Amino acid sequence: MKNMDAKDPVEAELFYRFLKEEGIGEIYRTQETPKPQANPAPAAATGAKNDLLMLRDTVLKCAKCAELAATRKSVVFGSGNVTAALMFVGEAPGYEEDVQGLPFVGPAGQLLTKIIESIGLERKQVFIANVLKCRPPQNRTPQPEEILNCEPYLREQIERITPRVLCAFGTFAAQTLHKTGENISSMRGRFYDYHGAKLLCTYHPAYLLRNPGEKRKVWEDMKKIRQELGEAV
Ligand code: URA
Repeated sequence: MKNMDAKDPVEAELFYRFLKEEGIGEIYRTQETPKPQANPAPAAATGAKNDLLMLRDTVLKCAKCAELAATRKSVVFGSGNVTAALMFVGEAPGYEEDVQGLPFVGPAGQLLTKIIESIGLERKQVFIANVLKCRPPQNRTPQPEEILNCEPYLREQIERITPRVLCAFGTFAAQTLHKTGENISSMRGRFYDYHGAKLLCTYHPAYLLRNPGEKRKVWEDMKKIRQELGEAV
């Protein structure tokens, strides 16, 4: 734990766990007391789920981007809690995500799981999606036209889920949601407004795998998100 200059021992411990590359089960546990619920499935959750399932049916049939529709194995709609207070948005599915039809299940996804757990949450409590729902061949960068085609789906997902906090990973997600040409380094670390939700942009987990020295900055960003969420989760 050299060079972390954390004065608070709790923070030091959490940061240490955030940096750990193995032992997910040992990472900061979430609160175990279940929240009391009047009904197992509140009406709002059922409504949001139905709305999202209808949107999903549309997205799964999408063929607006001819190349992506021809080369994909799956359409990766997104997964998680349909009434999540926190939603993560990445760039586009990679190889593993295309095979499994789920977002962030490859190496970057494993790091994302640790990032989520480092702030005391579980993957099933948040919603995870991407700007593009189809994998660009060879993981090439998304084309402007593909983003234009796919962005309405992301916008509708956000409208239906109504997260309190949105976290955009990497330049593409940040620029798509914040509508700017700024790079991620200048955008990261502060909240913007996204139609009433708080939008925080930060480095992509895949970038962190290549640049582990930048994890500290993402940890700082995650603490801001945790603070903003407060008792919401
Ligand atoms: N990178 C992303 O941006 N999204 C995924 O789902 C996986 C890797």
